[in-house]
Amino acid sequence: MDIGVIGLGNMGAPIAANLIAAGFEVTVFNRNPEKAEPLIAQGATLAHDAAGAAQGDIVITMLADDHALESVLFGEKSNSKDDEQDGMLIHQGERTIHVSMSTVSVQLATRVAEASSSLNRGFISAPVMGRPDVAERGELIIMPAGKHKLIEKCMPVFEAIGKGVHTVGDAPEQANVFKLSANFMISSMIETFAEAFALLRKNEVDHHLFYEIMAKEFFKSPIYEKYGKIIADGKFDTGAFTIKAQEKDTRLALSAAIESQVPMPFCTALETAFLSAIGRGKGELDPCALAELAAENAGLSGRKRK
Ligand SMILES: NC(=O)c1ccc[n+]([C@@H]2O[C@H](COP(=O)([O-])OP(=O)(O)OC[C@H]3O[C@@H](n4cnc5c(N)ncnc54)[C@H](OP(=O)(O)O)[C@@H]3O)[C@@H](O)[C@H]2O)c1
Repeated sequence: MDIGVIGLGNMGAPIAANLIAAGFEVTVFNRNPEKAEPLIAQGATLAHDAAGAAQGDIVITMLADDHALESVLFGEKSNSKDDEQDGMLIHQGERTIHVSMSTVSVQLATRVAEASSSLNRGFISAPVMGRPDVAERGELIIMPAGKHKLIEKCMPVFEAIGKGVHTVGDAPEQANVFKLSANFMISSMIETFAEAFALLRKNEVDHHLFYEIMAKEFFKSPIYEKYGKIIADGKFDTGAFTIKAQEKDTRLALSAAIESQVPMPFCTALETAFLSAIGRGKGELDPCALAELAAENAGLSGRKRK
């Protein structure tokens, strides 16, 4: 199978590398072409534009946000359907299935589904759970939604990059609701650790012991262990994901909630916390750095206790 990968950032690059290692013919495209070089050394072909990577059996887009995906699919100046002429979508191969893995809004996923359908092009949304280290190990959890027969055709690709595939609906945008709900829960967990640790530290109780018991026994789960450790150790320069990006996901969840008339008061509180962290210059730190904010609000130093 010929697979295109557009967007070679922290997530797209290891996904492309795993596809090459699994024996697929891989064509890559990235706005900044330097990021493609290690993949070309591994056997990928470089496309000159996004459309050039969208001529095989499947093209994966793994881009930063709504603006990035819109620019690639509809062209830089696209704000309306009238402009949907110079992006990837109009040039997508007739039999090429577009798999959108970026974390983007429900509204954009709906727009892409409608535009793809009117052009008679295959489209599924398949966001993923797992950080770049998980992507490197080929252990992502993939949550596709769309036409069953399109998802079936993509299964060999999903199996090469993930350890679990869970079809979540028939309409592509349902996958985005699923992903945004999952990220809301991650943000919620970060904030609960952040506030609990601030309370413990202010009262001179060992928050590392609390972490050991809560993450490894009481709420035992890999995600509690991983995030809890980053927060307990105060090591927020992971480079894996950022407060700014997690704020984007929280905002998109809130937007979906407003559109659906679903009150999400805790999501509103999280959005305020992320914006406050960005306002205090923490936007490039790991999302776990919400703990610095909770600590500072309690009059504690963010990183170290003394
Ligand atoms: N990192 C994680 O832990 C994680 C986990 C699950 C899902 N996600 C989601 O996966 C997606 C990618 O995340 P990432 O961590 O790989 O991000 P990243 O490292 O920041 O990479 C972003 C990619 O988007 C491209 N891009 C940004 N703006 C663009 C534009 N205007 N036009 C064209 N390309 C543009 C970048 O190209 P350049 O190299 O040219 O800037 C790069 O290829 C995001 O939606 C994120 O929310 C991330």
